Amino acid sequence: MNIGAIVQARLSSSRLPAKVLLPLAGKPVLWHVLNRLKHSKRLHTIVLATSTLPEDKKLKEVADEFGIPTFFGSLDDVLSRYYHASRQYKIDPVIRITADCPMIDPEIVDEVIEHFLEQPYDYYSLYGNFPDGLDTEIIKFDALRTAFEEAKLPSEREHIGEFFKSNRDRFRTGVFEKFSDKSNYRWTLDEPEDNEFLKKVFGELYTEGEVFSYRDVFELLEKRPELLEINSHIIRNEGYQKSLQEDKKFLTEIEKEMTGPSLYKKAVKIIPGGTQLYSKRPELFLPELWPTYYSKAKGVEVVDLDGNRYIDMCIFAVGACVLGYADEDVDRAVKQAIDNGSTSTLNCPEEVELAQLLCHLHPWADMVRFSRSGGEAVAIAIRIARAHSGKDKIAFCGYHGWCDWYLAANLGDSNALDGQLMPGLPPSGVPRSLKDTALPFAYGDFDGLEKIVKKHGDELAAIIMEPARDLPDKGFLEYVRKTASSTGTLLIFDEITSGFRINTGGIHLTLDVNPDIAVFAKAMGNGYPIAAVIGTKEAMQAAQSTFISSTNWSERTGFAAAIATIKKFEQENVAEHLMKVGQRIQSGWHNAAEKNGLNIKVSGIFPLSHFSFEYDNSLAISTFFTQEMLKKGFLGWVQFKASYAHKDSHVNSYLIAVDEVFRLIKDALDANRVEKLLESSPAQKGFYRLVKN
Ligand SMILES: Cc1ncc(COP(=O)(O)O)c(C=O)c1O
Repeated sequence: MNIGAIVQARLSSSRLPAKVLLPLAGKPVLWHVLNRLKHSKRLHTIVLATSTLPEDKKLKEVADEFGIPTFFGSLDDVLSRYYHASRQYKIDPVIRITADCPMIDPEIVDEVIEHFLEQPYDYYSLYGNFPDGLDTEIIKFDALRTAFEEAKLPSEREHIGEFFKSNRDRFRTGVFEKFSDKSNYRWTLDEPEDNEFLKKVFGELYTEGEVFSYRDVFELLEKRPELLEINSHIIRNEGYQKSLQEDKKFLTEIEKEMTGPSLYKKAVKIIPGGTQLYSKRPELFLPELWPTYYSKAKGVEVVDLDGNRYIDMCIFAVGACVLGYADEDVDRAVKQAIDNGSTSTLNCPEEVELAQLLCHLHPWADMVRFSRSGGEAVAIAIRIARAHSGKDKIAFCGYHGWCDWYLAANLGDSNALDGQLMPGLPPSGVPRSLKDTALPFAYGDFDGLEKIVKKHGDELAAIIMEPARDLPDKGFLEYVRKTASSTGTLLIFDEITSGFRINTGGIHLTLDVNPDIAVFAKAMGNGYPIAAVIGTKEAMQAAQSTFISSTNWSERTGFAAAIATIKKFEQENVAEHLMKVGQRIQSGWHNAAEKNGLNIKVSGIFPLSHFSFEYDNSLAISTFFTQEMLKKGFLGWVQFKASYAHKDSHVNSYLIAVDEVFRLIKDALDANRVEKLLESSPAQKGFYRLVKN
């Protein structure tokens, strides 16, 4: 153990510059501090810790006189100065002494050390009734390191005890008590009056070669109480109060920094692409002004980082939260799953329960595999289809995620995915050997699919498509089903977005066409990560002839969320609610457009509604729409995804706002001023859903 005092000193004191070098009984103030500490019987080491400012070099001369080493560190970050000094001199515990306390008492320092050593404290300091100027604090080195690593506030960096005081639950802290209240005694040096007081006391008590004690000072002050009047009016801890003001400034700055748009600027530097999901990029909505981040979401309400509250009438977590945000029934099930251990060496029974539930809802399906996200689940389905058939090629329609098998479509013809949901996806990083393995066809294009089948029929492993986004073309699904069956190709329905919208399960149940495999994600877990690949026994058994396996696919919360979501969805007839809400929204858009003379096109099944402004500058207009809806307290865009939490009152107030904003748009269009009225740059066009003409 190396018990060491670190004496902090600097010349740049604002109230009394160079105070620690002021003369006191013929010696600098700092000299007295060091001299008195030298009389401690418990200290093994004393170090002077000052700043790297050139002027502070002078302080070293005083320390040299006692053979005390000087450490040079940060001027303002005193915590770092202490940490680095104690590390360099291997001090533990560390005693903090300030150089403006020339009456520091070695006897008290020793007593404090003794008490500290008797108890397992991390931080130990004087009780608040001591005279101001005997300040002695002791910190274990490990605790000091934690503070050094974690403390953020200016007050915590400047006054090293602060971090421990405000984190008493994490540190063992204690206080040293000794005598009755002496907090009106002021023995420190901050102001000229303090200097006058100290001079008087030293004039009376100091004798060269000796160290007077706090008892001598008590006696003197009892005899000559008028001395107290010299400086007792000065407010104690004024420096500390100042640093609390610094804290306030600091926190305000942080708050300012924490607005969504400014955080996003940081995000793009540290997260390639800015976000994990393309569809949550602010550039798609209102580039510089979209709130981008949320602090809380409940029901249909989203609170941004500034505390602004919005009703979400937009993509609603990209369709993931079909019951509404933080649904209590789903969250209860998830919390229970967490409390019971979200994972273990053994499997959780919920995966079997969810598999049974999905097969019960889809009587044609016999088996189920699970994963966590949509694109991943589609990749599993494609692997199963390829393993099942021993063939490589996939005919597809629509968007199916980020994986290689899908982006491969753009290897041959870089525009192959145009006309699908997301145009212009670059296939960089996808092996060129996958060229010509993913073959697109358009929804409702009988001839297109027939051509693929004619040319590649023998090599086709699967046909994959969303059964419907909009109302399906008559007979098309039946045609695809027949084609798949007649060519021995598996038919995969991607129900990641369409599932659990118009009925409990896949939309194909209503359309009355069964696939061989169907894939679910999004709504099925009400926002918790869970995805399912369900299929006939014949198709799904192929999963055993290849390797499909991942640790987190066995985790419990996703299953628990999905079971709770599906049960509630069914019991409360959520699908009917989603249809009604979506229908009201679509007719509300129509009515507002008609009333205000705007040309819009509305599409999508009711729970996944969409409209577009039919003008050349449609992107600028939709950006303006989002901008003005935001001002009215709505996250509003050209898409609306319905949730069970959307009630009539939300729809009513939203449609009033839409009407008002459509009026503004009409006025702006008439005056040719849409672009001028934009407070942000126009949104970028990117991931859009296929809109059938
Ligand atoms: C039809 C369809 N397939 C696949 C995906 C990809 O799902 P995820 O984003 O969960 O990977 C989506 C996502 O929007 C989708 O709509």
